[in-house]
Amino acid sequence: MKEFISVKDLGDLKAGLAAAKYVKENPFADQALGRNRTMLIVFFNNSLRTRLSTQKAALNLGMNVMVLDVNQGAWKLETELGVVMDGDKSEHLREAIPVMCSYCDIIGVRSFAALTDRDYDYAETVLGQFIRYGGKPVISLESATVHPCQAFADLITIEEYKTKARPKVVLSWAPHPRALPQAVPNSFAEWMNAADVDFVITHPEGYELDPRFAGNARVEYDQMKALEGADFVYAKNWSCPGVTRPQDYGKVLNKDMGWTIDAAHMAVTDNAYFMHCLPVRRNMIVSDEVIDSERSIVIPEAANRVVSVQTVIKKMLQSL
Ligand code: CP
Repeated sequence: MKEFISVKDLGDLKAGLAAAKYVKENPFADQALGRNRTMLIVFFNNSLRTRLSTQKAALNLGMNVMVLDVNQGAWKLETELGVVMDGDKSEHLREAIPVMCSYCDIIGVRSFAALTDRDYDYAETVLGQFIRYGGKPVISLESATVHPCQAFADLITIEEYKTKARPKVVLSWAPHPRALPQAVPNSFAEWMNAADVDFVITHPEGYELDPRFAGNARVEYDQMKALEGADFVYAKNWSCPGVTRPQDYGKVLNKDMGWTIDAAHMAVTDNAYFMHCLPVRRNMIVSDEVIDSERSIVIPEAANRVVSVQTVIKKMLQSL
């Protein structure tokens, strides 16, 4: 595996889930695989879960680990090609990427969408440069449009908790005070479309996800109707993807607190489990009583972030 961006990079999904189950049951079985290998993880943005779970996974595989926070101690990096570098950015990604990759065997990159230029974000301009100029396997640790390690962990969690062969999974938009990227819902939709689940997306009009991720998923604008009979409720905020109105890309179009997942929303489900990638704003995205209930599985979901990324790193080590 040379890159991990999409569900397609995992190959056969059933085999990928079986590999993840093995990793979860045998976390230290492959320590020899990573001996004398180095994992570098590079953060352009903040992180708690991704930062810790990726380090833990690489350590479980016997690797050495280095972490670089680009905005804390490194030179400020220019990401645009063809610019006159007369501002505050001292180094270009064109040099920084091959240098960083000369120090490691696998690189993970977190680089969020700036939400100002849809074409720039949806071209995965920053992550794409790591793939083009690094020469080492690259893992998206949430890039401009995708968060595959999160979506893989989400699917592992659904597989663990499901009690029906084909559960109903609902991705619901929920309100948030700030504009957030679409990476989590994009990847969640992509992975649910590939999985054997009955998948429904619900959001206010104007928040339609990019068709390359939403695929043929059912979209239901009536949130309560969408939630009826759900087995899993996955709440997430995202800003306007700019599909129907490109000029609205990255904007907050709606703050309707009626979309907050509370007990009344969960009451119409089939005793659904509540999921969220975290961090979550309580009583904006989800009420305290729902996230604190016994049907909330946000903690085991976060714990599975180690499993998903360890499965990916292991596959990459096997193909070095
Ligand atoms: N879910 C997730 O990626 O969490 P962090 O932003 O804390 O890494």
